[in-house]
Amino acid sequence: MWPVARRRMRCLFLIRSLPFSSHSSSSPSKPQPPRSLYNSLPTLSALKSSPSFPPSISSPAFRAFCSKSGGAMASSQLQNQDYVSYLTQLEAAEIDETLMGPLGFSVDQLMELAGLSVATSIAEVYKPAEYSRVLAICGPGNNGGDGLVAARHLYHFGYKPFVCYPKHTPKPLYNGLVTQLESLSIQFLSVDDLPADLSKDFDILVDAMFGFSFHGTPRPPFDDLIQRLIYLHNYDQTRQKSPVIVSVDIPSGWHVEEGDVTSEGIKPDMLVSLTAPKLCAKKFRGPHHFLGGRFVPPSIAQKYNLHLPPYPGTSMCVRIGKPPQVDISALRENYISPALLEEQLEVDPIDQFRKWFDDAVAAGLREPNAMCLSTTGKDGKPSSRMVLLKGVDRDGFVWYTNYESRKGHQLSENPNASLLFYWEGLHRQVRVEGSVQKVSDEESEQYFHSRPQGSQLGAVVSQQSTVIPGRLVLHHEYKELEEKYSDGSLIPKPKHWGGYRLKPELIEFWQGQPSRLHDRLQYSPQEVSGKRIWKVSRLAP
Ligand SMILES: Cc1cc2nc3c(=O)[nH]c(=O)nc-3n(C[C@H](O)[C@H](O)[C@H](O)COP(=O)(O)O)c2cc1C
Repeated sequence: MWPVARRRMRCLFLIRSLPFSSHSSSSPSKPQPPRSLYNSLPTLSALKSSPSFPPSISSPAFRAFCSKSGGAMASSQLQNQDYVSYLTQLEAAEIDETLMGPLGFSVDQLMELAGLSVATSIAEVYKPAEYSRVLAICGPGNNGGDGLVAARHLYHFGYKPFVCYPKHTPKPLYNGLVTQLESLSIQFLSVDDLPADLSKDFDILVDAMFGFSFHGTPRPPFDDLIQRLIYLHNYDQTRQKSPVIVSVDIPSGWHVEEGDVTSEGIKPDMLVSLTAPKLCAKKFRGPHHFLGGRFVPPSIAQKYNLHLPPYPGTSMCVRIGKPPQVDISALRENYISPALLEEQLEVDPIDQFRKWFDDAVAAGLREPNAMCLSTTGKDGKPSSRMVLLKGVDRDGFVWYTNYESRKGHQLSENPNASLLFYWEGLHRQVRVEGSVQKVSDEESEQYFHSRPQGSQLGAVVSQQSTVIPGRLVLHHEYKELEEKYSDGSLIPKPKHWGGYRLKPELIEFWQGQPSRLHDRLQYSPQEVSGKRIWKVSRLAP
């Protein structure tokens, strides 16, 4: 099977070879030659003069590849592959040249950002607790450099990377990357060192052999390495577990524009497109397509009419297309966290809560004060919703809301309620149960006026939990009030708006542990010699 497939691959590469052979060279007129990110790239002039190459970038035919109509794009539309721009090889090369020419980027910078994007994309999907052993297979060019950088970042993210870099490029940039990896004691494996069956020793295989500028036939040992990755996919069809393959920008051996033309090439599980996806990415059928390279300046995006999904927050990567359908019943995390022991607990549960809350803040968790409030009215039917904790002390947990809302009505019928905090990043949960009272009017008044004007107006406008004819009603009313109070005069707090305080009668601290043997420590009040103290009990998980 294998030799036949290999022969086929060789044919494939010959067919795919682009009709040019010159490689990029330094231009004597420029201080820093605008080399492509992928330094084996043929010069732009060679690409442009090639008769088989797509027409000039300014021609409508060319634009059709990468353009959709302009204007703002909803992120839901950008989830759809059809709304994302795809670049031809020529366009990708031209963007690179612009970045490294007039825009002043150096190849080192772009490589660092590209490698970081690859590492963060991997970390988004494949957590180190489950996928720790990474083999980065790096080619001789800049795609290989991206792989070396990614390996370094993965090390710092908690993975155990290994590197196979059979054709070390003797240039300061690559020497530096190798030194950095060696200083982290990352093992370099020769092709001979690699086990014949890659499936046993690695969880993730990073294919960083060839990028968008590759042309020609992969030479040894890369032809064999590509075959091993192809073989793994076939192996995966028949066996249970196989490492995942992550390709950097282009699955090695694919045609940059036409993709896996014989359907016998590498089938990556994840593709991390850099700067913008290349046309071959349209043929990617794996579950995880990410975009990285968050350095495209608006001038480039405009010039090439690039439509790319917005990067969330400070992330270096963004998913393209929909996440794969998952079997919900198969989703499970094995929590690995420090044990929660009785002797570590504070005597008072509020002090313990503050300690954990501070940990959640320090861990950078978003909205650590978001909590689920559950209430029941006299019908005994529970209902839950999120609210924000706005204060906590010995008297209890405070939040603000509309007293005439559904929760408000339920609390007026039954003051017993529960709160739940879940701090996912720390594998922690806190349950609080007790009875609820309204806070004093002064306290509500004070908090109301500490809020931004928009929130104050929103509270005035919203008759929370009532049916309204449409969203415009709210917006009209809001606008009117905004004008009315545009002089900065005091917005009176509505009578029906204010705070509640839940006085805890039971608080449980839950810390996730491996194999579902979680720690649960519960505080409940106890009378000892006429004094109320908190008793701690351990509960079975
Ligand atoms: C993260 C988050 C925080 C929220 N915080 C509050 C809040 O502090 N007060 C509030 O009245 N509603 C808050 N809401 C909205 C409530 O979940 C809910 O929609 C609203 O209070 C009406 O609930 P009810 O109809 O059960 O009374 C929040 C929602 C979310 C998702």
